[in-house]
Amino acid sequence: MCGIYGYIQSKSNKKPLETCLDGLQKLQYRGYDSAGVASIHKGTVLSFKTVGKVDLLSALVKDHKYELNTAIAHTRWATHGGLSAENTHPQIDYKKSIALVHNGIIENYLELKEFLLSKGVAFTSETDTEVITNLIAYLYKGDLKKAIAEAFKRVQGSFAIVLIHKDSPETIFAGARGCPLAVGICDTSKDVYISSDTSSFSESSYSTYFMKNDEIAEITSTALTIYASDGKVKKNDLSTIIISKDEASKDGYDHYMHKEIHEQSSLSARILKKRMLLNTFSFKELENDNTFIEQMEHIDVIACGSSYHAGLIAKEFLEEMTLTPVTIHLASEYRYAKHLEKKNTVAIIISQSGETADTLAAFRCKKESFLLSIALCNNDTSTLTRETHRFIPLMAKKEVSVCSTKAFTSQLLNLYLLGIHFSNVLKIENKSYIEELSNIPLAIDDVLSKEEIIKKYAETYACYPYFFFTGRGNMYPVSMEAALKLKEISYLPAEALPAGEMKHGPIALIDENLATIAFLGTEKTAPKTLSNLSEIKARDGKVLIFGGDTHPEITQDVIAMYKNGNDTFASIPYCIAGQIFSYFIAKKLGKEIDFPRNLAKSVTVE
Ligand code: M6R
Repeated sequence: MCGIYGYIQSKSNKKPLETCLDGLQKLQYRGYDSAGVASIHKGTVLSFKTVGKVDLLSALVKDHKYELNTAIAHTRWATHGGLSAENTHPQIDYKKSIALVHNGIIENYLELKEFLLSKGVAFTSETDTEVITNLIAYLYKGDLKKAIAEAFKRVQGSFAIVLIHKDSPETIFAGARGCPLAVGICDTSKDVYISSDTSSFSESSYSTYFMKNDEIAEITSTALTIYASDGKVKKNDLSTIIISKDEASKDGYDHYMHKEIHEQSSLSARILKKRMLLNTFSFKELENDNTFIEQMEHIDVIACGSSYHAGLIAKEFLEEMTLTPVTIHLASEYRYAKHLEKKNTVAIIISQSGETADTLAAFRCKKESFLLSIALCNNDTSTLTRETHRFIPLMAKKEVSVCSTKAFTSQLLNLYLLGIHFSNVLKIENKSYIEELSNIPLAIDDVLSKEEIIKKYAETYACYPYFFFTGRGNMYPVSMEAALKLKEISYLPAEALPAGEMKHGPIALIDENLATIAFLGTEKTAPKTLSNLSEIKARDGKVLIFGGDTHPEITQDVIAMYKNGNDTFASIPYCIAGQIFSYFIAKKLGKEIDFPRNLAKSVTVE
């Protein structure tokens, strides 16, 4: 997992190292354990590396005086080997002739390393990247493209690599298998950009080539040549993409997460407005798909993390709106599971980034069998949106904070709206929901207006070392989402439980050191949840309730929530309450909120 970048100057006067650093800043969502950049200067490999974020690398590179025209760069999320300068990319081979950056995993790296060690090749890092670098160097006999092709035959796994060699200082070579990699030629300057994600290119329009499996690209400032695995030159079908200015800023907030939490009301209003047509909600993107929707016998939802939680929360509503069984799949388990033969399945693949490796792998393993596949995604040039039949944009604009807030809310809202669209096609009654969905921005405004009180409780509860989050019905997956938020940014252990399950084991953990956060957003199950909370109170557990009424017999700590007539859509304000609560706990504890340790915004390894 990681972000890889390359740049060749053509007609502009941009400096390669600095341009790569700009690109890396935008790729840090793929990892930020360490960063590095390399070029060829006067026949030798020149490199700068730092453990930590790209800002540190920029400080290191800042005053250099090198005249260069090509550079490659990397931001790392560690998979093989700890956080050290030796394990930072670019990796340099044992002959000191190649610098290489890599995203992905070389699965047979130990076997290849043993082979190379037996040939006297020395290693300095613990990475699988150094193995492919040394393998290419070992196989190199004057034709780099040939050495890369031969190396590709020997390596197993999924990867994207970009490399430079001291014998061809103005050429970059690139190749990929199962990991994204794009080459963009700027339509005005003809400068060439290579990246794991085109959104990291500088603002301009580009003729872009998306690398396919086992292809090798030979790139100079005047030519882009694509070779198939048999060495034959391939036609490079370029598509135009336009990259607009990266407008992410904190707008006066201390953290992106806080700003993104506050964008959710206007985002929901924008989504509802876009989808409202003739007093109902519908999706233009699906206007030619009524026959598929009518034939649909199953819905498979595939996703990871918060995106998976959005699916879990919306499941019941989707079933009610389609009278069709809906299965929510964790992408990382999906392709290893035994699937019963199912006909006429519509797949909904949910991913903020559209680059999550588990999600892509799960989708690809069944892709051909789906009647219709629909991506809910926040990145319109992502791998996922290119591979599914249809793409529904989340319209959340860039989400910077690793902890998903606004993209998650958009996923959930879009799932509810999709339910309405399906029910319209299937002629299933849905009228009562239209107004309640239209009230969602109000419900979000209401919870945002309670920020001060939620903050007060968060600061009081920040001293607890362990948390339970609980609820029943759709408040259980809401609890899962809230627990995930807390874990990600505060590093506190938090477990989500259906309230009724507490007495079947977990209640053994209850004492005065354990805080339980309860979501009482479902009227029909609230009384039962309250009984479970009484059982916690009777064992000296601390309880905070997000819900309507006061419950002095259980706790004084109650945060009143907006009532929207119906329980289904309460999930959205309750999830946002969970986001605010976690944010202020992490803030009180002084944690690094936007870029928490060990995480990355987009997880591009399986
Ligand atoms: O980009 P995706 O939606 O596919 O990402 C899936 C998860 O990695 C993501 O939701 C993760 O759980 C978030 N950091 C949660 O805040």
